Amino acid sequence: MIKHLAQKVKRRIRNLIRRPQSREGSESFKLHNELVNHSWGLPREMHKFVLTPDYTKVVKELFDSAVWLSIEDDTASEAFLASHLRPETYNRLNAEYQYCDVRPWSGHMQELIRAARDEIFFALNSPFRVVQLRAWTTVPNASQFGPSDWHKDGLEPGHLKMMIYPLGLGGANGALALKTEHSPSQEEIIEGEEGLVIIFQNSDIEHRAIPPKDGGSRPTIEITLQRLFVQPQDDAPFIGTPNDRHLSDPRTAYQLRY
Ligand SMILES: [Fe+2]
Repeated sequence: MIKHLAQKVKRRIRNLIRRPQSREGSESFKLHNELVNHSWGLPREMHKFVLTPDYTKVVKELFDSAVWLSIEDDTASEAFLASHLRPETYNRLNAEYQYCDVRPWSGHMQELIRAARDEIFFALNSPFRVVQLRAWTTVPNASQFGPSDWHKDGLEPGHLKMMIYPLGLGGANGALALKTEHSPSQEEIIEGEEGLVIIFQNSDIEHRAIPPKDGGSRPTIEITLQRLFVQPQDDAPFIGTPNDRHLSDPRTAYQLRY
């Protein structure tokens, strides 16, 4: 009983100290997003395309030589907004997902983003910056939990996610299920060939990852994009830890990467 109470108090204190985002921080993303929407209009709900065979080969090779990490309650720096999950959630995520150390991928991803610029601009309808990059594989038959359960990502306004599936989706490789505006009560199953990319409004559209089955593999690259008012000074991607969500201040996205 006392142990249970102590854990509860500890959790409360931890959540108070590490509040995900201050009200001022949220307000600045909201205002920034209104400015972008006013100047450029709204982004598309979803856009799908396929990488060129050369870039599909690049992303496959990045996974082949990946160094694996676990997700922990940490952050790369104060420039990022981190998630603060329960200890048991980190344990479950680490049991069912293997995260890659993507910091060495920065140059390759910067080139890939430049090559896919027109497709990304079409989806976002504004300039943009990569404000987080993560990559992982999912164990076969992972449970319906976390990313595999229905959810919205709950990012601050003005962010969309670009998902890359080097081995494609469908069959034993699993899929992505979405409930779009056109079919809010009916799931739309996204499948496609190697190098499949989907950019979507991940905080507005309910979605879930359908895990791979035995014999399948579902390597995933997740690029978080922040819509911008004008072109940034630099297009180098910001990369946090697997626990970081995106930048903590919308203005940082315009600057040179520190
Ligand atoms: Fe998600």
